[in-house]
Amino acid sequence: MRKWLVLIVLFSTALVATDGEAVYKSKCASCHGDRASKSALNKSQVIAGWDDQRIIQSIADYKEGKGGPMKGIMKPIATGLNDDDVKAVAKTIASYK
Ligand code: HEC
Repeated sequence: MRKWLVLIVLFSTALVATDGEAVYKSKCASCHGDRASKSALNKSQVIAGWDDQRIIQSIADYKEGKGGPMKGIMKPIATGLNDDDVKAVAKTIASYK
């Protein structure tokens, strides 16, 4: 009985946990390329393998209207992500080398 309860809890957490790979593919890959290997619109740095904290900080900056010359492109994208999305997608990008 206990065992089942544990399994059910584990399974439901897996279902609600944000999938960073899915966020990346649906919201970032079109510009940053497969596995973050391209410069977005030839204007950004290649972000594959960046430390996840650095990515989280960049997204937070874009939300506040800070960033490089093309920050206007990233602002609405950053604003559309909740904290869980940001953490998950940052981890995914950090894992791309
Ligand atoms: C429409 C194209 C586009 C999409 C989609 C996009 N980006 Fe960007 N991204 C850019 C551009 C252009 C820049 C450079 C902005 C600037 O000048 O600061 C950038 C910059 C960045 C940077 C900072 C890199 C640097 O050069 O300082 C990070 C981190 C980043 N994007 C993450 C993401 C993530 C995560 C997603 C998906 C949730 C995403 N981007 C989706 C175009 C895009």
